[in-house]
Amino acid sequence: MNSKPTENECFVYITLPGQTEFVTAGKFVLAKDRRGNPAGKFVYGRSYLESDNPVAIDPLELKLANKTYDTNILKGVFGALRDSSPDYWGRRVIEKRSGLTELGEVDYLLHSPDDRAGALGFGRNAKPPAARRKFNQTMELQRLQEHADAIIADENIPDEPNTEQAQDLMFGGTSMGGARPKAVIEDDDALWIAKFNCASDKWNDARVEHAMLMLAGDCGIHAADSKVITIGDRDVLMVKRFDREHTEAGYRRGRMLSAMTLLRADDDPQRRDNWSYISLVEELRRISSQPKKDAPELFRRMVFNALISNIDDHPRNHAVVAMDTDWKLSPAYDLTPSTPISAEHRDLALVCGDMNRFANAVNLLTQCERFYLSPDDARNIIDQMEATVRDNWHAVARREEVTEKDCDKIGTAFNYPGFRLEAAA
Ligand SMILES: Nc1ncnc2c1ncn2[C@@H]1O[C@H](COP(=O)(O)OP(=O)(O)O)[C@@H](O)[C@H]1O
Ligand SMILES: [Mg+2]
Repeated sequence: MNSKPTENECFVYITLPGQTEFVTAGKFVLAKDRRGNPAGKFVYGRSYLESDNPVAIDPLELKLANKTYDTNILKGVFGALRDSSPDYWGRRVIEKRSGLTELGEVDYLLHSPDDRAGALGFGRNAKPPAARRKFNQTMELQRLQEHADAIIADENIPDEPNTEQAQDLMFGGTSMGGARPKAVIEDDDALWIAKFNCASDKWNDARVEHAMLMLAGDCGIHAADSKVITIGDRDVLMVKRFDREHTEAGYRRGRMLSAMTLLRADDDPQRRDNWSYISLVEELRRISSQPKKDAPELFRRMVFNALISNIDDHPRNHAVVAMDTDWKLSPAYDLTPSTPISAEHRDLALVCGDMNRFANAVNLLTQCERFYLSPDDARNIIDQMEATVRDNWHAVARREEVTEKDCDKIGTAFNYPGFRLEAAA
């Protein structure tokens, strides 16, 4: 029962700072321009603009104003809205569940559950729905893992004997982005992203990613809180959501924008010219309420990614968040080592200096002033972080129960002579 996309417009809701319920912020319409390319339009509702203390969905691209905004990048979906939409994993679950394969961007916004990153919601009605009150619980992890396995194996999902609501929770997938199988779980009065391991993984990703978040902390980086839960013989990484805060009345939601949005970038490989830490730090300095803190912090993250060979540091793996009215760099997340064959030349996903994406100390220093760091300070940070990663990665990994066998597999990520190669630089 495949069918074409059906929806091309929706209302956009937002949870205002300090609140737990949605209000209607505006309307999004996805049309086509004269050449037939997707063209998105967004308008704020007049009553929203006139309400007490409205906030912008995106203070750089969608400022509070009575006008029609247009975009033609990201398939016509404004970055701030696209950041609230599921990615590869969430979309796969929706397609599997609905039997529909040709869904449009607005369909994904409307079909996905209300556990999305950030403070936005989407619907067909001008009046927003009540905020979601019920979430998957830790005891449901086993079944969620089984469902994830079934979707990966492309099997039919078994019918659940439970109520419709339970089924929704179990099968609903998630609006959180990213490619790895995941679900949102409530535990200890907080919401967590549960990231499941897959049979095809080269090593125990849950434990390795958790260890990287810990190692980042040792390098002076503010990383998301995380823990590993073992279900049967499988490990699940739990990353605490930094865009939610529990209150008696429900969850407060922070607004969130990815670096993809800050950079006005596209994920189309042909249009990646502005994937750059150098441009990102400029945008960060514009949007952040604490640029003197956030810019050097971004420098550390860029260096850390080079030191652990995290070449998956693309613009959706960086974000800013506003739990109230002030925007800040979010805690670091999705830190994963990789083991490219070349020991001499590794490229980050984003440009990191005058020599493009080259993960190399000389290159990382070339634009340090834009991160509010003098060359001496930047050099000291690099030296210290390099020593911390070199001396500690193995002990941290073992402490977090990464097996010796997996340490052997990831070892070359931290042993990268190209980082100090001056001749090539
Ligand atoms: N701790 C967190 N709090 C809130 N949102 C998060 C957090 N970690 C990740 N995200 C959001 O979820 C998305 C997917 O998470 P990520 O860890 O990047 O998964 P994947 O490994 O599948 O890419 C991210 O792009 C980001 O938007
Ligand atoms: Mg990611």
